[in-house]
Amino acid sequence: MNRFTSARPASATVVASNVERRVLALLARMTLDQKIGQMTQPERLHVTPAQVKRHHIGSVLSGGGSCPGDNRPADWVAMNDAYWAASMEEDADHLAIPILYGVDAIHGNANVRGATVFPHNIGLGAARDPGLVERIGRATAREVRAAGVDWTFAPTLAVAGDPRWGRTYESYSEDPRLVGGYAGRIVRGLQEGGVVACAKHWVGDGGTRGGVDQGDTVVDEAELRRVHIAPYVPALETGALTVMVSLSSWNGEQCHAHRYLIRDVLKGEMGFGGFVLSDWNGVDPLADDFGEAAAAAVNAGIDMVMVPERWREFIAGLRAQVERGVVPVGRIDDAVARILRVKVASGLFERARPAERRGSNGVGFGSHEHRAVAREAVRKSLVLLRNEGAVLPLDKGARVLVTGPAAHDRGRQCGGFTVEWQGVTGNEAIVGGTSIWEGIRAVAPGAVLWGGGARAAEPSDAREFDAAVVVIGERPYAEGMGDIRELGPVRPGTNHLPAGPGVLRPYGRTLELASLHPEAVRTVRGLAERGIPVVTVLVSGRPLVADAEMAASSAFVAAWLPGSEGAGVADVLFGDHDFVGRLPMGWPGGGDDVLFPRGYGLQLPGSEV
Ligand code: GLC
Repeated sequence: MNRFTSARPASATVVASNVERRVLALLARMTLDQKIGQMTQPERLHVTPAQVKRHHIGSVLSGGGSCPGDNRPADWVAMNDAYWAASMEEDADHLAIPILYGVDAIHGNANVRGATVFPHNIGLGAARDPGLVERIGRATAREVRAAGVDWTFAPTLAVAGDPRWGRTYESYSEDPRLVGGYAGRIVRGLQEGGVVACAKHWVGDGGTRGGVDQGDTVVDEAELRRVHIAPYVPALETGALTVMVSLSSWNGEQCHAHRYLIRDVLKGEMGFGGFVLSDWNGVDPLADDFGEAAAAAVNAGIDMVMVPERWREFIAGLRAQVERGVVPVGRIDDAVARILRVKVASGLFERARPAERRGSNGVGFGSHEHRAVAREAVRKSLVLLRNEGAVLPLDKGARVLVTGPAAHDRGRQCGGFTVEWQGVTGNEAIVGGTSIWEGIRAVAPGAVLWGGGARAAEPSDAREFDAAVVVIGERPYAEGMGDIRELGPVRPGTNHLPAGPGVLRPYGRTLELASLHPEAVRTVRGLAERGIPVVTVLVSGRPLVADAEMAASSAFVAAWLPGSEGAGVADVLFGDHDFVGRLPMGWPGGGDDVLFPRGYGLQLPGSEV
């Protein structure tokens, strides 16, 4: 049950009925064109403020990495202010209904330069701290509103079962109970912070066969409910205002056309009273004729359609389907009532225009306070998998060699959905924060960085260094481009890049790190063979088969995708804080067995049990 239908105190009932009165009064004034406009969500690169007014557009989004101007908060505020002003210019043809702008602020408002970038969800799952997740939600909401934005497409409530899935890092855990324990907290943090949340992707996105992104989840209904639907219950009970449909299928039926899952289960049985959003071009594959595809999605219960470029076709196609009686007017009215209900209930109508809001002045954006929360999250996310000879904690006075492709690379630390959709490498695009090396340098004066153009000659042997910290891992990726599977294009046309042979290539064919990045094990072995104890830190979006790297390391730490505050790693490597992280999903070994079970994680020597 959720805020619109759950049992609630009288005062809330009064509020809800006031909301309903306003919604119905507005709906009664709207033309069919104005209603269909509210259901339409183009991408910012394909719609102007003037077109928002002319076509009565209800929402605009930024796809990953689609950033205005110099990608500073002020540029975002200016862009949103223009869209908002256009949407509120009432005249004979247009009703003043505020635009709802949506972004993927899934680990902080990480599209925007200078944002605090929190660890991706898999690291938060390792931290096992729902209160921390709520605090991250509040901090994220402040940084989203600093950009004049009112809606984020988060949280992802996927229950990732197969690390071959390119979106594993967006999942908190393979355990639906842990995901459910976070779901209500992140929704509360975001929405009490003044930003509309979006529980996604409905439903079963993390359970596809072989971990193929946008693939097919083949399970019976009992399993679907127990694993994939369960985490949505606390999210809806906390009042999540929007839900995004998955681009995957359930037993061969596309979720975007699944009337039973959307109208009967989510809206009927679970009482969801907000609105349901399609995913990126999720309508296109439903039928050869775009109008018919639109009708299939809307009749299945989708209320707003994310149609980045073909929004004019969508409007015309849906209108024709309504006029033919294929889509009942009652379904249109229900969809628009839901959209208006979210806009009224979230306070959007009472908000000043973005440029005149207190929160839009950038205060709090990338603040020390937020970065401290992010650094705490990094500390708590780290999982210690091996610590032979108690090489950890390192002594702050030790001579430490630091090397590896992710040692001094804030972009790699952040992973996908950071500044660019597919993420970035290097440090220049991540303004603020610390690399793992910068964190180590700050506490260990005897540390030197080696490789990647940094100083320090080739190390000769153990007489020179007490230990080495080798930071290895994956390059950033997002969605299907992170899949591990046989090569072949990711489903063309439904991702942000144009379809084309080879343009959308999966990350690799194996989870074995030594095959994906052979240079990593060479570096670790090279140092170990010189008698230098190696602490290997793995920066990755998922567990990987790392038997060879672990065997050559004295200590091995899973750091996931820690985000902008890499100094949190040094906090634990040098013993200022203990390891508390536990695996959020099983860790694979060679031969497909589970090397370490979910919940596994060591602590530093001498820690109380
Ligand atoms: C993407 C993702 C979804 C994201 C949306 C907007 O394809 O599936 O999670 O929110 O498009 O960027």
